[in-house]
Parts: sequence; structure tokens; C-alpha cells
Amino acid sequence: MITNTLLLSFLPAVRVAYASGGHDEGPGPADFENWDVQHFLGYIWIAFVAVFIIYQFTFHFIRYIRTIACLNNDTQRYFSRPQAVWSWFRRNCLNAPLFRTRHHREFKLSSAVNIGTLPSRLQTFLLVGYFATNVGFCLWSIDFSQPYAKVAGEFRNRTGIMAVINMIPLFLLAGRNNPIITLTGISFDTMNLIHRWFGRIVVLEAVAHTAAWMASKVKTKGWVAVQKSINASPFIMSGFIGTVAFVFLLMQSPSPVRHAYYEVFLHGHIIGAALALGAVWVHLKDMTYQYMLYGVVALWAMERTIRLVRLIVRNVGAGGTKADVEVLPGDALRVTVRMARPWSFRPGQHAYVYMPSVGLWTNHPFSLAWSEEEEDLNIANMVADEKGLPMSRQDILEHHKTSMSFIIRRRTGFTEKLFKKADLSAAGKFTTSAFIEGPYGGEDLSSYGTVMLWAAGIGITHQVPHVRDIVAKYANGTTATRRLTLVWVIQSPEHLEWIRSWMTQILSMPRRREILKILLFVTRPRSTKEIHSPSSSVQMFPGKPNVQALIDQEMAEGIGAACVSVCGTGSLSDDLRKSVRSRQGQWNVDFREESFSW
Ligand SMILES: Cc1cc2nc3c(=O)[nH]c(=O)nc-3n(C[C@H](O)[C@H](O)[C@H](O)COP(=O)(O)OP(=O)(O)OC[C@H]3O[C@@H](n4cnc5c(N)ncnc54)[C@H](O)[C@@H]3O)c2cc1C
Ligand SMILES: *[C@@H]1O[C@H](CO)[C@@H](O)[C@H](O)[C@H]1NC(C)=O
Repeated sequence: MITNTLLLSFLPAVRVAYASGGHDEGPGPADFENWDVQHFLGYIWIAFVAVFIIYQFTFHFIRYIRTIACLNNDTQRYFSRPQAVWSWFRRNCLNAPLFRTRHHREFKLSSAVNIGTLPSRLQTFLLVGYFATNVGFCLWSIDFSQPYAKVAGEFRNRTGIMAVINMIPLFLLAGRNNPIITLTGISFDTMNLIHRWFGRIVVLEAVAHTAAWMASKVKTKGWVAVQKSINASPFIMSGFIGTVAFVFLLMQSPSPVRHAYYEVFLHGHIIGAALALGAVWVHLKDMTYQYMLYGVVALWAMERTIRLVRLIVRNVGAGGTKADVEVLPGDALRVTVRMARPWSFRPGQHAYVYMPSVGLWTNHPFSLAWSEEEEDLNIANMVADEKGLPMSRQDILEHHKTSMSFIIRRRTGFTEKLFKKADLSAAGKFTTSAFIEGPYGGEDLSSYGTVMLWAAGIGITHQVPHVRDIVAKYANGTTATRRLTLVWVIQSPEHLEWIRSWMTQILSMPRRREILKILLFVTRPRSTKEIHSPSSSVQMFPGKPNVQALIDQEMAEGIGAACVSVCGTGSLSDDLRKSVRSRQGQWNVDFREESFSW
């Protein structure tokens, strides 16, 4: 949004500069068409972002009203009925997979190589639309009956301009701190999908640009001339390097590479992007289009600066941030961090963890599973004794400690190293300095009368904070929620250890019995003796859950508007999506999913 306005405000200036002799011949009709194309594209972005802002704002408002209306209403009948048009849209576009049921389950060539996931129907529609718009703009009002060289020249300029202008959203959407996420409510996951497609579009346009230049060169003077120009002119050379860098980025970023060697991919990607940007910068030297690259560079620099500032503010000073790393049964770790300056915790947040002693500068995203306020009583007493006075507010704040915890599943890179280090340490734990970058994300489910949270394995880290938050809000009367069900699918009962202490706390919260029900499914129990249900509100079953049956039961017994949230494996997400969609005609239910990969 900000960039768009920026961009559009300097375009007229560019036009004037060009028109007043910035170029040997002055702008011809083709130049004006190129400017128009940039304007149109700018307007399309603005319209796109505006629609999502309005959507986001409307839904915030609706949820707010619903929460207020339901605080003292235990039936909430009005909100349980779906609104016809909205439920059609939700069912057939927003929550729909591209084809029948598959969305999040990955396509695999073998157990190690996955080709990626399919975008949803709405995502596909928008991406195909944007792709088609780009193709249209690359060809728009070029008169193909002109002589070959002229057609090739116009097409070359157009594709070049389109590639450069698309670099702005490409770089903007790559960042974690991109303002569009806040404004539109589109998830970082989806942003990554859009980023990938914008990237592909830029590469195709850059290649078309280069090909158009080569084609006319070859046609008039032959291949030798191509070689000669590349060597002789920095302009052509830089363009050539830029295109090569873009193609390199395309080749090294498909899903199998990204997932198998994430760090290698990331570093290669950043180097490739810097090279491409530098080359295009030189290529556009003395051309008015270079202005657009200022925007690109500014966006990149801004994103990195925000990250650095966040890291410093949260972790430097006050003794720094310390992390206790502890081995848990079932190939997992609990990492508890005491931050130099914590933030007030909300459910659904994740943060990036840096541990220089284990992973150097690399960082990995993890969900915040728990936060604990603990007053350091020893220090507090000492301070009070010394001064002989009650503590001031400042003293209390200084000695108030917040710790935040992550549960980390062992994988094959950083998490494996961390696990090994903890495993080899005395008592299976060690303490190290860490840097936490965050928080990112966060969601509030308190406007729903019925909340059903699903998790598979480590996905529970995303759901536990919601459970605590909703139970607490229910007890103090600040939520619409009247029914909360947690369904957790695990492979073995030892995974219960991951969150046992937190669950004990949740289960002893006031009025918990009135609202919370927990269903545990153990898919690979070693014996049936391991399966026992501690109480009627915490039940344990062997095998996999019958997703449709549980959804139907929730629909029958639910209160008000409902939300089904899932964080887990692709196949669980897809099963749930299918079951929820099949009931969206009769039931006012939202489907939310969080995935731990991108
Ligand atoms: C929003 C979010 C929340 C998450 N929360 C949790 C959590 O609470 N607990 C948990 O155990 N895991 C969580 N994950 C997954 C976790 O980030 C990865 O398992 C971890 O980064 C793997 O590190 P590795 O070096 O051992 O990976 P590898 O074994 O090398 O790779 C395993 C997988 O993790 C992906 N991955 C590796 N590094 C990164 C990275 N820096 N950023 C993104 N993906 C990466 C790879 O693409 C691959 O698919 C979360 C992921 C996301 C995106
Ligand atoms: C109710 O509980 C929630 C969750 O702990 C808390 O954020 C909120 O401030 C509480 N509200 C009141 C009025 O006590």
C-alpha cells in the first residue's frame, strides 16, 4: 500500500523527466503505453490490498459485535445459522481446495522428496488472474504488424519494465515484517505463496526481455554479435548477469530443494537475490526506471532494520536472554526462555529462535506454547529489606520475570543439533544465551460460541495457549465461548509428557469443567493398558479419530458460531477441511489452519 502510493506519486515525475529530454529521442507512443501499464498495475495492487483491508476490517467488526452480543447469552441461536451467500463463498472459495479434497497434504515422489502442496481455490483464482494480467500487459497495444525489429523492441522494453515493477511486491512480500500482513490479515504462509508466484512472473518476464533482445540481435547480426555485446557493454553484461541470477533463483527454489536443504536454500536465495538486484541496478543506470529499484532496496533495508531493532530491543541488556533447553521423551525438547524484555503474550504467536552456540546466525520459527509470570521473590525481598521501604512500581517491574516456552520436535538440522547437545549434557539439560525475534502472528477466538481445536503431534504447541486463554476468559466472563473441545492425535502416550505440567495447570483452572473437553487419540499404543481415560472430560482412545463423526457431534451440540482450528499434518488438515465444508451449508463454522512449514 505504502509502496504503491509512493510509486504512483513519482511516476508522473518520471514522465516529466523523460518528456523534457532525459532521453535522446524523447518519449514515443510506446513509452507512454509503458507508463500506462505501470499505472494500471499499481492500481490493481491498490485495489487488491484495499479489498482485503475492507474484508479484514469488516470481520473484525462482526467478531467484536458478536463477542459483545454473546457475553451473557448462553444459547446464541442467532449466530449458529449460516448466512447463505457468505456460507457459499466460504465453502466454495475461501476454504475450498483446488480440486476435491487435497490442499495441505504434500505431493510426494518418495518419502523424502515432496513436490509441494496445492493452493486453495481462491488462491489459485487470484494467482491465475494476476499471471494472466501480466501476460496481457506484456503484449498490450503492441502492433504486431510492424517490422520485426520494432515489435521485438517494444516487447523487450515492455517485459523489462514489467519485470522491474513486479520486483517491488516481490521484495515487499518476502519479509516477515511486511506491513501487508498486518493490513490485510493474509497469513505469512499465503504471502510466501504469493511471493513465489511473483518471483516466477519476474523471472519469466526477465527471460522474455532477454530473449527478445537476443532474437533481434541474432536475426540481424548473428550469434557472434550477442557474444560481443555481452562482453563489450556493461549495460548488456549487467542485464545478462541479472537474468542468469533470476534463472538461478528459479532453479534453486522448488519445494524439494527448499525442504531438503532449507539453510542452503535460504543463503543461496539471499545471495542470488542480491546479485540480481545489483545487476538490474547497474543495468538501469542512467535510466528513469532505476527509481523503482530505490523502492525495492528501501523495502529490503527496512525489513532487515526492523528485524535487527526487534532483536536488540527484546534481547540485549538486562542480562540478555537465556534459554534452558531440556530433553523430553518422544524426541522433543522444551526450551524455556527468560527474555531481557518480554512482550505480553497472546495465543497463536510464534517467534524465531537464534542460538548462536548451536546454530550461529540461523534462526527457526517456533510457536509460543506457554508463558509464565514469576516474581523473583528472593530479589524482591532483598530490595525491600535494603531500603526498608515497600517496593516502588519500578522495582516490581524489574523483578517481575516472564518466561516463555517452546516445545521443539527433533528434525534433522538445527533441532537435531540442539537435541544432541541437550542429550549429552548432565541431566539432559543446559542453559545458553539466545535471541528471540518476535512476536509474529496471534489470533483471538473469543468471538466463537463453539471452539474446536485439533492438533496432531507437535501441532499442540499452537493450541495450548488458546485452551488456557479461553478457559480463563470463560471464568471471568469475557468470552462468547461456551464449548471448547481439544482433540489431540499423538503416536504414543509418551508425547503427553510434552505438555503434562501445563495441562495440569489448565485442568485445575476455575470453572474448567463447565467448558473444556479433551479427546486424546493414540495412534500407535504399545498396549491397550496405556489407554485409559482419567475422567469424563479427558478421554483417551486408541487409533485415529473419526473426523466427520466428531465434527457432526460438535455441530449437533454446539452453541452459536463455531470455529474449527487445526495445526498438524497435511492429511489431518485435509480431512477436517472436507468434513467442515460438508457442513458449512447448515452450520455457521469457520475453518482455520496453521501449518508448520512453508
Ligand atoms: C509458524 C511456525 C511455527 C512452528 N512451530 C513449531 C513448534 O512449536 N514446534 C516445532 O517443533 N516446530 C515448529 N515449527 C517447525 C520448525 O520451524 C521446523 O521444524 C524447524 O525449523 C526445523 O529445523 P531443522 O533445521 O531441524 O530442519 P530440517 O530437519 O533441516 O528441516 C525440517 C523442515 O523444517 C523446515 N525448516 C527448516 N528450517 C526452517 C526455517 N528456518 N524456517 C522455516 N522452515 C524451516 C524445512 O523446510 C523442512 O521442511 C514451526 C514452523 C512454523 C513455520
Ligand atoms: C479475563 O481473563 C483474560 C485471560 O486471562 C485476561 O486477559 C483478562 O484481562 C481478564 N479480564 C478481566 C475483566 O478480568
